Amino acid sequence: MPYTLPKLAYSYDALEPHIDAKTMEVHYSKHHQTYCDNTNKALAGTEWAEKPIEEVLMNLEKLPSEKRNAVRTMGGGYCNHNLFWTFMGGPTREPTAELKSALEKPFGGFDGFREKFEAAALGQFGSGWAWLVLDQGQLKITQTSNQDSPVSMGQIPLLAVDVWEHAYYLKYQNRRAEYVKAWWNVVNWDEVARRFTEAK
Ligand SMILES: [Fe+2]
Repeated sequence: MPYTLPKLAYSYDALEPHIDAKTMEVHYSKHHQTYCDNTNKALAGTEWAEKPIEEVLMNLEKLPSEKRNAVRTMGGGYCNHNLFWTFMGGPTREPTAELKSALEKPFGGFDGFREKFEAAALGQFGSGWAWLVLDQGQLKITQTSNQDSPVSMGQIPLLAVDVWEHAYYLKYQNRRAEYVKAWWNVVNWDEVARRFTEAK
């Protein structure tokens, strides 16, 4: 079965005014669809086509060398966006008490976490992502370039912000900092907590 786009749990305009409906529509129906289609093309006829995308990304070095780069970029983009949609649209404005207390030691609490996560998002030169991951049981903030995925590095993604210009340019143009500040308003903390509990 070829990969398909996961259904969005909310409408394109649900994240307004922070993330505008047009950006959501283009991001999901054009950008994400392209990653999905190109992943299917790259994997067609290989034994990997039937496997979950996470498993494929964890085994990039085992792929035929002529496929590897396409899968790394397109498969990474497919997987990263699958996650990204679930990280937004939540009803809660703050992490659960358990997650908040887990943020104490590595980041100095929720405020410290936000500050460091924003710095990672703004400091990512060019296209890429900022992440909160669980790496060998440790909470870490990381960045990836282009569509590289933490999954390929054996990390478990808990939260991410897309800092490709396609994620914010229509509304924010070059003002990435403004976008990231606004993005906090739509984070789905229930999903982050769910993934954290599952990952532990
Ligand atoms: Fe994106």
